[in-house]
Amino acid sequence: MANQLPEEVIEEVRKANDIVDVIGEYVQLKKQGRNFFGLCPFHGENTPSFSVTQEKQIFHCFGCQKGGNVITFMMEIEGFSFYEALKFLADKSGTDLPESASSPQNSLTQENQRLLSAYEWLTKFYHHLLRHTKDGKEGYQYFRDRGLDEETIEAFQLGFAPNAKDFTKEFLDKKGFHQQLLIKAGLLSLQDDNSVSDRFRGRVIFPIRNHLGKTIGFGGRAIAGQEPKYLNSSESELFQKGKLLYNFDLAKKHIRKRSEVVLFEGYMDVIASYQAGVKNGVATMGTALTEMQAKLLRRYADRVIICYDGDSAGTEATVKAAELLRRTGSEVRVAVLEDDMDPDNFIQAYGAEAFQTQVIQASDAFIGFYIRHLKKDYNLSLEGERIKYIEAVLDQLAMIESPVEREYYLKELSNQYNITMETLTEEISSRRRKSGFHQHKSDRNRYTREYAGKPKTNKLLPAFQNAEKKLISYMLQDPYISDKVREELGAGFNMDEHQIIATRLYAHYEEGNSADVSLFIENLSDPHLRELVAEMAMTPLFEGISDKEVNDYIRIIRTQASASGSVRELKEQQRLAEQQQDPVKAAQIAMQIIELQKQLKNIN
Ligand code: GTP
Ligand code: MN
Repeated sequence: MANQLPEEVIEEVRKANDIVDVIGEYVQLKKQGRNFFGLCPFHGENTPSFSVTQEKQIFHCFGCQKGGNVITFMMEIEGFSFYEALKFLADKSGTDLPESASSPQNSLTQENQRLLSAYEWLTKFYHHLLRHTKDGKEGYQYFRDRGLDEETIEAFQLGFAPNAKDFTKEFLDKKGFHQQLLIKAGLLSLQDDNSVSDRFRGRVIFPIRNHLGKTIGFGGRAIAGQEPKYLNSSESELFQKGKLLYNFDLAKKHIRKRSEVVLFEGYMDVIASYQAGVKNGVATMGTALTEMQAKLLRRYADRVIICYDGDSAGTEATVKAAELLRRTGSEVRVAVLEDDMDPDNFIQAYGAEAFQTQVIQASDAFIGFYIRHLKKDYNLSLEGERIKYIEAVLDQLAMIESPVEREYYLKELSNQYNITMETLTEEISSRRRKSGFHQHKSDRNRYTREYAGKPKTNKLLPAFQNAEKKLISYMLQDPYISDKVREELGAGFNMDEHQIIATRLYAHYEEGNSADVSLFIENLSDPHLRELVAEMAMTPLFEGISDKEVNDYIRIIRTQASASGSVRELKEQQRLAEQQQDPVKAAQIAMQIIELQKQLKNIN
């Protein structure tokens, strides 16, 4: 990889950052045999085919073929340049990077870099005003009145934008930011008379951080009845509400630890719950949950507890979000609040303990919640309506994969409406037959199942390709095998990519390097080759391959090479014969080619 940094430094950073830890911050990884598996962050999937090995310090997805080492992972997942990825990892492990000679490449536009810097300054500035100055006192009082303590105010860097026209403008002016940029980002607003004013003036500020903890937007709440109640930064490349979740950066380690996330509607709900000890909470920002957010949550946790407002809008939104989350493969639970309560009100009224035990821990499985929710659409005292309701419930129950869970709800239905279990079970079976549900494999326990993404291509490949891949797999983990292959086969691989990889590998060992795949990948600049190497390095191999096996592979590869050489030659002769208008000779040659190809197949 092109870079100006000394190799030892890159090496040091790579060694200091275990790939399982780094990727573990993005994907819930579960150990299976020697490797770790999880849901691939690069393509949507419901069964884990993304694998990481600690031993080799590389990753590979059997689904989408992405692969590489810890540095290329950071480049792919964050869109970082090489330098940024290295810097990020160096900061993480506390390694010093020497100042780079030329200016390091940055993946963000200059404008976005400025904007990030403006947000960083302003976050500190507004927070400082709120904590320590007269200008911010109202904001401070507001949060204290809503029950937040100092520690929470600090953790969320809550702030206040004073109610003066150009407080913010002057502060940012002094720091050298261009007004145009700030207007565009929605930090300042242009008045009718062309003067500029602070957009968030007179509002308390909720800095909105991305998953790396950098502020990329503000939510400003009115504290004196201004409209609208909440004002957010404008949508931009940096701030995309549909991709972000409020508080994800602080919550993610708790989410991973419990494999559970609590989903709220509002900033204040997240903050109040955090203070009440529920630290795995995140929120959307006034918009419906998107598929992207649902997938993000799925990668971090098995279970989502939806904790929306207790009113009818909250309930409707719960049903919508639950459907999306279930489709994405999450187990959904619903924490129900009394009508007209939101989590923040509840905590204020009944305290942290009650919130934890009576709301979060008492959450219902989605289906139970939904069955109750459906009731309100039917007048159950009328027989016709009652039947319709039961049918609607059966539709839902038919979708449950676990027979135990299905039976549980069917029993309840049977008792409540006096219908025999036989009838209900028959109804369910017919529904499942119709929708082909019985064929679906259960998504449950999918980590205990064999992973879905076996390198299935192996079977379909011609034998010589298989032999080349296998051989390289062995060469990657054993310099002696590489040596033997170099002597006997040299660059005589049939596939161009394999030829390049083998040649590079000979050089790698000749330079005195060990069988360090992650390092080898580091030195390949072509992403496709890197992915290929990661794939081959991930292939499960037997310990101690015999000389005979190696020889067999070499023989298959050679035979293919010479046969395809002969085929090439014959084809050339055939072309000449045709040119010389000699159809009999051309036909004879064609027969020879077919014969040779047949033989090739038999050898393989
Ligand atoms: P508090 O009244 O401060 O407790 O807020 P809340 O979180 O209870 O607010 P609510 O339930 O009304 O709204 C939930 C979320 O929707 C908020 O956290 C905001 O992200 C968003 N929101 C609410 N009102 C507005 C608004 O007027 N404009 C915009 N853009 N977003 C809003
Ligand atoms: Mn509220």
